[in-house]
Amino acid sequence: MLRRADNELVTRVGPGTPMGLTLRRYWMPALLSSELPHADSDPLRVRLLGEDLVAFRDSNGSVGLIQNNCPHRGASLFFGRNEEGGIRCVYHGWKFDVSGQCLDMPAESDFRSKVAARAYPTTEKAGVVWTYMGPPERQPPVPDLEWMRAPAGYCWISRTYQSCNYLQAMEGGLDTSHSSFLHREFTPDGLTNPRARSTAPRLEVLNTDYGYMYASIRHLPDDKQNYVRVYHYVMPFYQLRAGGSPKSLGNTDGHMWVPIDDVTCWTYNFHFSHAGPLAYEEWQRVEHQMGRGLAEDYTPGTFKLKANATNDYGLSRERQRTVNYTGIQGTNTQDFAVQESMGAIYDRTREHLGSADTAIIQMRRLLLEAVRDVAEGRDPIGSRGQGSNVRPAQMYLPDDARWSETQLKDALVAQF
Ligand code: FES
Ligand SMILES: [Fe+2]
Repeated sequence: MLRRADNELVTRVGPGTPMGLTLRRYWMPALLSSELPHADSDPLRVRLLGEDLVAFRDSNGSVGLIQNNCPHRGASLFFGRNEEGGIRCVYHGWKFDVSGQCLDMPAESDFRSKVAARAYPTTEKAGVVWTYMGPPERQPPVPDLEWMRAPAGYCWISRTYQSCNYLQAMEGGLDTSHSSFLHREFTPDGLTNPRARSTAPRLEVLNTDYGYMYASIRHLPDDKQNYVRVYHYVMPFYQLRAGGSPKSLGNTDGHMWVPIDDVTCWTYNFHFSHAGPLAYEEWQRVEHQMGRGLAEDYTPGTFKLKANATNDYGLSRERQRTVNYTGIQGTNTQDFAVQESMGAIYDRTREHLGSADTAIIQMRRLLLEAVRDVAEGRDPIGSRGQGSNVRPAQMYLPDDARWSETQLKDALVAQF
């Protein structure tokens, strides 16, 4: 459990809150590059850490992320005309460039140089528009994890809107033991995979300078071996996990959980194939199995799943009896159902944590430590590019082998 004060501390992210100030010390995904497809394309609303912003791509292709309310009298710049190197408010024609500088105020005697919209720096990498919302003098390097360096076509990324606090979503993602239950499929494959055969993984967490790495160790007594899966938690909101078959080159899957505000978040999903480029259609097929691909899973024009709380996530009791554990289709949809069912911000004074929750406990500790660091004037852990050299891995190991001392260790180093 968490004390009430700590629960408030880690979940509240708006401007001026301790966690809000802490997250603002890291680069954050603001949207996908593809959402602003070309120079002077349509502006978009962006809400991030409780702030309403507008994103636009100017005539040079640079992305601006500026305050939603026009500095003149507050009309939303979302309605603006994106033209000739800036966005022009449709109320009285004031115009702003990507740095927020006012370029024109046609109905006014000229005091352009005295007016600027709040603007955050952006950069594009790995198909994502990143932004830094913290103090300019403390701006850290842009994140550089392995999947972000992968050649074109090796890595795909999507995002999904989630109706709960980012911490709940992230806890669900870091939690390894739930996959034996929540995601169980009653198929021959599903019933014989190691997560179904061994439902009580032992967790080992090793602290690092970027967060921690953790292993879930599932003992398979019949085979006299362990199925070991090593994950990385990179501060403040990344998880990297190994996908594919343990014997293949496999892939790195993972998420970023980014607060929209206190009660909603973006779950970004990346899929990085180690062996070579992956066709878009193949990636979409995998996404669809998760419940978040092929456009058909989303309400058109949004990143919101059609299967959601309003229709019990498509729950079928018949499917629950015969096909899978939940009766809900799609791993991602199953995750959303339980995470959102806790309420927007769960009261963590009421939980009862066990040894399977070790990684979650450690993540909360690190977030609270980062809040303290920022309050005391230090850079928070992992904000300076740490962790760029890691890769997740999985392997079958003999009963008595220590994962951190075997060949698995070599597999944990980035190859790109
Ligand atoms: S409110 Fe934007 S120009 Fe007047
Ligand atoms: Fe899950």
